[in-house]
Amino acid sequence: MEPTVVDDSLLKVRSLHAKFPVYGPFGKILGAKAHVNAVSDVSFELKEGETYGLVGESGSGKSTTGRAILGLTPASGGEVLYRDRNVTAMTKEEMRNYRKDVQLVFQDPYSSLNPRKRIGQMLEEPLIIHRLGNREERQEKVFEILRIVGLQPEHYFRYPHEFSGGQRQRLGLARALIMNPKIMICDEPVSALDVSIQSQILNMLRQLQREFKLTLLFITHDISVVRYISDRIGIMYLGKIVEEAPTDDLFQEPLHPYTQALFSAVPDFTRSRLKERIVLRGEIPSPISPPSGCVFHTRCPFATDICKAEIPPMREVRTGHRVACHLVE
Ligand SMILES: Nc1ncnc2c1ncn2[C@@H]1O[C@H](COP(=O)(O)OP(=O)(O)OP(=O)(O)O)[C@@H](O)[C@H]1O
Ligand SMILES: [Mg+2]
Repeated sequence: MEPTVVDDSLLKVRSLHAKFPVYGPFGKILGAKAHVNAVSDVSFELKEGETYGLVGESGSGKSTTGRAILGLTPASGGEVLYRDRNVTAMTKEEMRNYRKDVQLVFQDPYSSLNPRKRIGQMLEEPLIIHRLGNREERQEKVFEILRIVGLQPEHYFRYPHEFSGGQRQRLGLARALIMNPKIMICDEPVSALDVSIQSQILNMLRQLQREFKLTLLFITHDISVVRYISDRIGIMYLGKIVEEAPTDDLFQEPLHPYTQALFSAVPDFTRSRLKERIVLRGEIPSPISPPSGCVFHTRCPFATDICKAEIPPMREVRTGHRVACHLVE
């Protein structure tokens, strides 16, 4: 009998591109002079129930990738498939479900909370929009969600400014969770919090994930956070994923020189695995005119001629461990 191949990918991102116009001093009157290539040729998949960590320096295109998946930033190329349905080809009804199933949690939930609305009202709103339950059922749901994220029933009547940063992040999670999502895209959800609150939120997230069978796309620049939370990790540099592997595998043996440099900035890691700290020269280049060939060649200590000339393809060097580097055997 033919073995049945189980495709456990919930979301597929294929060769995604996203760019923003850059305007000169006269703005739109003279039209765009150039483009910021925020995301270029990014491909990865989210498997049901996993946490996929997307790591990279500031400006590497992590948030844009997350927003493009949701259609909040238009993609200029490539495709996003949810349960094998192309997001751009969805009917209105399918799109409504997609928007319900895939929720975004921001770094700073405060800026996305309406300051004039009480928390209860704010949490109930999406349920009204999606016509879920009657009044009583909706209220019950709001109280349940508050309890699940570790807040109190009396918080129902408070305003956003009456919460601490950690509590606000819980509100951000509550607002996403109330829709019963399948996927949560968490964009730096703990970066603004102090370390002890960070671990509380991360632990809660892991627990919620098990309880609700969530699939997480976890975006961060923090290596230790991503290591703690992720099953698999993609490393982003200047709009591209340069390496992808299961977490243990990646930390056991980072292959891309950029990943090595990123990890070597973590003191513990340098002591245990790498001989010395790799300090990158120069600044991250402008995404308006990214370097030719391998986008990392201008800062790579090992770059050779081929790196300047040819874009390295993504190759699978071990099961699930993919890397885009000419120098990796
Ligand atoms: N709306 C926009 N208009 C123009 N350029 C943008 C816009 N949003 C992002 N960019 C640019 O796209 C690039 C990628 O930005 P993005 O926010 O995706 O990075 P990031 O990896 O999330 O960074 P950070 O870690 O700082 O959040 C940056 O150069 C940024 O300036
Ligand atoms: Mg960001």
